[in-house]
Amino acid sequence: MRYLTFALGKGRLAKTALELFEKIGIQCEEMKDPGSRKLIFVNEERKLKFFLSKGPDVPTYVEYGAADIGIVGKDTILEEGRKLYEVLDLGFGKCNMCVCGPKASQELLNRGQLIRVATKYPNIAKDYFYNKKHQTVEIIKLNGSIELAPIVGLSEVIVDIVETGATLRENGLDVLEKICPLSARMVVNQVSMKMENERISEIIRDIRSIL
Ligand code: PRP
Repeated sequence: MRYLTFALGKGRLAKTALELFEKIGIQCEEMKDPGSRKLIFVNEERKLKFFLSKGPDVPTYVEYGAADIGIVGKDTILEEGRKLYEVLDLGFGKCNMCVCGPKASQELLNRGQLIRVATKYPNIAKDYFYNKKHQTVEIIKLNGSIELAPIVGLSEVIVDIVETGATLRENGLDVLEKICPLSARMVVNQVSMKMENERISEIIRDIRSIL
């Protein structure tokens, strides 16, 4: 039997994803060791492999078939636009993609002005402003701490994830427009879905039964 390989995004989602696998009897004890520098983990009994990668790389590994299955945020799926099947909403990591900024920027949004939008998600921001709102904006790609941008005058608004809203509150920013809800999803390589249909369907069924 060939190994089924899982790609998990490092960070917030990985821990909950591993707990989910444990609940359906898929153990990977080794992976929980915080001191380990190991990148790939094997469950010999079930012929499974797990690896951790940067979140935005998960859809890449899955599209090319280097991983059969991935656990990744909907934000990353939308941003990366890779060819894969999204098979399950896992119901954790719930948050929203939003346009945020100081209250004063609301007026600029309403008037459809040529504003600057800072974001880690240029494709999501483009799709929202160009295709949904038909508003021309200048998009500035950043890699983190996006909330800084309107504070220091880099942009009028940001497009970013809002979970608890604490980061916005502590920096005097507000949600100005909601783009879409997000959560962790299970994605599957398109060829694996056919070649390993039985094993993958069983995993999907088991996870669905505990959600
Ligand atoms: C994310 C996001 C916000 C924050 C939202 O950043 O970009 O900054 O979390 O969460 P909250 O609504 O609960 O405050 P993350 O911590 O992932 O790091 P980043 O700034 O490097 O993107």
